[in-house]
Amino acid sequence: MKKINIAIDGPASSGKSTVAKIIANDLGFIYTDTGAMYRSITYMALKTGCALNDELAIAALIDQYPITFKLGTNGQSVFVGTEEVTEAIRQPAVTNAVSEVSAHAAVRKKLVEQQQAIAVNGGVVMDGRDIGTAVLPQAEVKIFLVASVEERAARRFKENQQKGIDTTFEVLKEEIQQRDYVDSHRAVSPLKQAADAVRIDTSGMSIEAVVSAIKQTITKKGY
Ligand code: DC
Repeated sequence: MKKINIAIDGPASSGKSTVAKIIANDLGFIYTDTGAMYRSITYMALKTGCALNDELAIAALIDQYPITFKLGTNGQSVFVGTEEVTEAIRQPAVTNAVSEVSAHAAVRKKLVEQQQAIAVNGGVVMDGRDIGTAVLPQAEVKIFLVASVEERAARRFKENQQKGIDTTFEVLKEEIQQRDYVDSHRAVSPLKQAADAVRIDTSGMSIEAVVSAIKQTITKKGY
């Protein structure tokens, strides 16, 4: 298959990373989780005691601590500098600070450049908020996944329980709504469906059904 780029955007917990990983694996493409990049730099800001509103200091951390992905037997691991942060970046402290960090233009500029470099030769499935609109506006296939807040909070609740993170369903629902609001209302590259993206509402759909709908879109586009 031609090495196209596939952009998968959508709000928090809409199922992007789960389906993006499966599609990348099935097509033999590289999977890039851009949310993990914003989370990694947020983790580093918290760890080094950077104020979350100190845009330039946080942007400087990106040069100091390169973010890398390594593929292992347990899937993809994330590193910041030499530290493995795969699990640490999913902790509530990072989740609750990441929207503020990812709203900074200087942070986005640096991470978007890195994301574009990863996709320069094609063959990438990239998930995030602004992939179809800002990072890869020329992506051959663009998908925008949505789901109800209740369904997304329920998914996050289940994931958290497996990881031993105790947050109530009601709190998760509020956090998701809050993150949706900040992600959609920031000045730089807000979460927004690209005009040429295919929208899929995954509420009540199984993972297999979502994967199949995306594959049909790829085929319909002639790839
Ligand atoms: O997909 P996620 O929940 O891991 O993303 C974490 C945060 O990173 C999310 O609240 C918004 C931000 N983000 C972004 O601004 N742009 C992206 N391309 C990906 C994530």
